[in-house]
Amino acid sequence: MYEDHFGLTDKPFKLSPDPKFFFSSAHHDRAVAYLHYGLSQGEGFIVVTGPIGTGKTTIARSLLASLDDSIVPAQISTTKLNPEELVQLVAAEFNIEVEGLGKAEILRKLEQYLHQLNRQGKRALLVVDEAQNLPAETVEELRMLSNFQLDDRPLIQSFLLGQEELKPIIELPEMEQFRQRIIASCHLRPFNAEEVKGYIIHRLTQAGWKGTPELDEDIFDKITEYAAGVPRKINIFADRLFLYAFLEDLTAISIKDVQSVINEMGEELSGSLQTGRAAAATVIAGNQPEPQENDVAAVLDADTMHSILSDVGHVLDQVIQRKIKIIRYLDKLIETKKAQSQE
Ligand SMILES: Nc1ncnc2c1ncn2[C@@H]1O[C@H](COP(=O)(O)OP(=O)(O)O)[C@@H](O)[C@H]1O
Ligand SMILES: [Mg+2]
Repeated sequence: MYEDHFGLTDKPFKLSPDPKFFFSSAHHDRAVAYLHYGLSQGEGFIVVTGPIGTGKTTIARSLLASLDDSIVPAQISTTKLNPEELVQLVAAEFNIEVEGLGKAEILRKLEQYLHQLNRQGKRALLVVDEAQNLPAETVEELRMLSNFQLDDRPLIQSFLLGQEELKPIIELPEMEQFRQRIIASCHLRPFNAEEVKGYIIHRLTQAGWKGTPELDEDIFDKITEYAAGVPRKINIFADRLFLYAFLEDLTAISIKDVQSVINEMGEELSGSLQTGRAAAATVIAGNQPEPQENDVAAVLDADTMHSILSDVGHVLDQVIQRKIKIIRYLDKLIETKKAQSQE
């Protein structure tokens, strides 16, 4: 939306895990180093955990983007798979025909495929994302896959990425054998304020930012606090902040602007909460004596009615504000396009 206006060549805060925007914080660097270490070992499991939005998928993508032809990757992002479904999915990811085959047959085909890769001087890498969704017996099935070996060398290696819930699964007593195969594990943490600054500026620079709008030094602490240092939340917030800067015709972003956007986003949220509360009030009030059909006032006392109306009024105000912004945005877009066509 605002990219043209600020002379950007790409969307700086898009949510897709694009390796081009990869920012090396100390934690992300360590995770990448572990994954590379794992690759160099060619065996065992590497486990990366971290809260949602901290960059697990991004790390995996940038690693996969850097691999040469000798490693054949397959990536699965799991829902709650049982062992049989896992085997089917893994085989399908390696382009093995699995239609109508039972688990044992699929495993045989998978093994043949892995041997064939080995003869070509290649090996397989399985990346399991959202691994916290896997039932323990499916994690155990992954371990069984790692038993495919030739001359004591495993033919397939796995990386597991997952939210914190993955840890207790791995710590179950029956996971002992699996645990023994883990060669490295690490945990991603949210960014601190300095990293948030580095992160935002890195993403902007990758998108062709030349310093407009300027960013005041003190905005980064505030953004860190609001987004709890989580990259996904930072992207969502920064995107809104730049849209705001565009709509307000700013050439510099100050802490006041950051606060305005925080307020705006907070109001949108509380607007929907209040609508929810108003609906709840109607339900509670509905317990009173038999209402007349279509007679809302009959089930609500004056205070509740007043409060609901004021909530509704508030939400409508916000909707109008947002519509005005969109119209202003469209006007600007037309102006920009006109200017471009006259160039
Ligand atoms: N190190 C990083 N460099 C660049 N962008 C990142 C980084 N970590 C996270 N992000 C961004 O944060 C968002 C969430 O990251 P993602 O990898 O999907 O998190 P997770 O898989 O842990 O839930 C994505 O938009 C991604 O681009
Ligand atoms: Mg992810």
